Amino acid sequence: MKRAGGSVARQGRVAATVLTGMALLAAAGAGHATTSAGPPPPSHSAATPGYSAHGADTCLLCHRTNAHVMAIFRSPHARPADPRGPFGPGGLQCEACHGPGGAHVKAFGRKPAGLVVFGAHSATPIARQNATCLTCHKATVGHAWPASAHAANSVSCAECHKVHGAVDPVRVQATQATVCAKCHQGVVARFREPYHHPVPEGTMTCSSCHDPHGSTADAMLVKATTNETCTSCHARFRGPFLWEHQPVTDNCENCHRPHGSAQPALLKESPPILCQSCHDAAGHPAVPYGPQGLPGGMPNPYLLVGGCINCHSRIHGSNSPSGRALMR
Ligand code: HEC
Ligand code: HEC
Ligand code: HEC
Ligand code: HEC
Ligand code: HEC
Ligand code: HEC
Ligand code: HEC
Ligand code: HEC
Ligand code: HEC
Ligand code: HEC
Repeated sequence: MKRAGGSVARQGRVAATVLTGMALLAAAGAGHATTSAGPPPPSHSAATPGYSAHGADTCLLCHRTNAHVMAIFRSPHARPADPRGPFGPGGLQCEACHGPGGAHVKAFGRKPAGLVVFGAHSATPIARQNATCLTCHKATVGHAWPASAHAANSVSCAECHKVHGAVDPVRVQATQATVCAKCHQGVVARFREPYHHPVPEGTMTCSSCHDPHGSTADAMLVKATTNETCTSCHARFRGPFLWEHQPVTDNCENCHRPHGSAQPALLKESPPILCQSCHDAAGHPAVPYGPQGLPGGMPNPYLLVGGCINCHSRIHGSNSPSGRALMR
């Protein structure tokens, strides 16, 4: 049979399969995953050697009692009208992801022979698992992925993404961090510090700052530098300022921790210790200071609670003509 005619016939079968899948979900496993309309579909394996003869219909004969497997029909991958998707017209359905299942079927499911099985502990090499997903997702994900820290460390797409389901927790702001926590426990713990970016509160998430598929920046940040990433939200501190504070233009992380901190404002240390890690404690040469320099032995005003920023309040830079000392 000619391929063109075959794919038309297959379209009918594909739609039937997906509808049957949905019906099976509703009827909790009752019914049969058979085709309903049109002439008998062409042999799947005739067009694509190694694949099962009837696609998902064959797979579901055995797998339809597994609720987790059936949940694929609730996912965006199961749209019968989407020609780009596994279940679209002419799609390979289950085998678009799981690879040729002909041998697995012939062995009555006893061997996963030829199948792509997903996850860290699968016998399928991670590179092959990921290449299967990338056959369709090259355009969006494929650019940066090969050079990402995750690809370099053999992390599989399936360790982050749950595709058998209506909801993919890694793509939901409120639940994403729990997925990352599987491997980045130390980082996620920082968000339990008293001062932190509002990730546990669900206002933002890891992918607000990182692209887990990779980027050209250090630590896979979403913008080219740390400062560009920070000022994409905190635009007030982007500058340029008339009077710059050099460590600010250099890197916000000179003073702040990105994830969380025991200090207010996510500072690495509290002033004055923070400031004095760069500025000589015997500073202020133009101003008399210190208990000895003041009548009445008053405490050093420069080290009062609140410290340096009581006076140097424009710590991120100043646009005032007389703001050289970052005080206005
Ligand atoms: C978009 C890709 C994709 C499609 C389409 C797909 N799967 Fe999966 N499948 C996966 C991934 C990834 C996993 C790993 C676990 C997970 O994500 O839930 C998996 C896991 C499985 C498992 C083992 C897990 C378990 O709970 O037993 C079976 C069996 C399975 N799929 C069968 C199927 C069948 C049958 C179909 C067609 C109705 C299908 N899959 C369609 C990607 C896919
Ligand atoms: C004759 C019954 C049968 C058919 C048909 C069948 N399977 Fe299976 N399959 C099984 C059995 C049994 C297992 C092993 C137990 C389990 O994981 O449910 C299995 C396991 C799997 C696994 C998990 C393998 C692993 O090592 O974790 C995947 C993925 C899978 N099948 C996909 C498919 C796909 C895709 C099709 C259609 C091309 C298909 N199966 C058709 C019976 C079948
Ligand atoms: C046959 C092509 C094909 C394959 C293979 C495939 N996908 Fe998809 N995927 C799609 C299409 C089409 C969409 C829907 C895109 C859209 O709506 O813009 C999609 C959507 C997604 C989405 C977004 C879901 C959402 O909620 O919008 C994720 C995540 C995803 N795929 C991951 C994967 C992973 C992981 C694999 C491998 C296990 C995989 N895909 C394999 C075609 C495919
Ligand atoms: C470290 C975890 C992680 C890994 C590994 C991962 N992803 Fe994602 N992926 C995400 C997150 C998080 C999002 C949501 C990003 C957002 O909302 O900005 C996402 C979004 C997506 C989307 C939908 C949005 C888009 O960019 O088109 C697709 C498709 C996708 N991933 C496919 C893949 C594929 C294919 C792989 C493997 C090559 C993969 N992902 C590996 C975490 C991951
Ligand atoms: C299955 C394990 C795993 C999961 C899940 C995972 N990662 Fe990773 N990630 C790694 C490994 C391994 C590395 C490389 C070694 C390292 O830096 O710890 C890495 C590195 C990183 C890096 C540092 C990159 C660099 O260049 O220094 C960032 C940022 C990152 N991951 C973010 C995320 C985010 C965000 C998520 C959740 C959406 C996530 N990861 C989920 C395993 C994982
Ligand atoms: C407000 C932005 C922001 C958020 C939100 C964020 N990160 Fe980061 N992350 C950064 C910056 C900035 C760095 C340091 C980059 C550098 O030093 O080059 C970093 C570094 C990392 C690193 C590598 C270095 C290290 O500390 O181990 C990992 C892994 C990481 N982040 C994971 C995560 C995870 C997981 C989440 C969510 C739970 C998350 N990040 C949320 C900005 C952020
Ligand atoms: C996606 C947007 C976003 C990005 C990117 C971002 N932040 Fe934030 N930042 C926030 C939000 C939201 C808050 C919480 C504001 C609140 O609670 O009022 C916050 C709070 C803060 C605070 C504490 C404010 C306070 O009053 O205690 C500091 C300091 C801070 N961010 C610095 C940074 C630095 C440094 C970076 C870059 C590593 C960065 N932010 C990147 C959104 C962002
Ligand atoms: C030289 C140290 C230093 C550097 C570098 C620095 N900050 Fe700050 N930042 C501070 C101090 C100190 C505070 C606390 C100010 C206060 O309590 O009034 C602060 C407070 C903040 C706050 C919360 C208070 C507010 O006014 O919203 C944000 C947001 C912030 N910084 C963002 C940034 C960003 C973005 C960068 C990089 C462009 C940056 N900081 C670089 C010292 C620094
Ligand atoms: C990472 C090092 C570093 C940290 C931390 C730091 N500074 Fe600076 N600061 C500098 C550098 C470098 C200059 C520029 C010095 C120059 O131009 O001679 C500067 C300039 C200044 C100036 C302007 C002085 C002038 O004459 O231009 C003031 C005021 C100042 N810092 C106050 C502070 C305060 C207050 C803190 C703590 C909140 C602080 N700095 C933290 C490195 C740092
Ligand atoms: C009571 C207000 C006040 C406090 C508190 C204060 N300063 Fe200053 N600081 C000044 C004044 C006034 C100047 C001189 C401004 C000028 O020369 O125009 C100055 C100048 C500076 C300069 C520039 C020195 C130079 O060579 O011109 C630095 C750096 C500086 N302060 C750092 C600090 C640090 C670090 C702290 C905390 C330990 C601190 N200041 C606390 C008022 C204060």
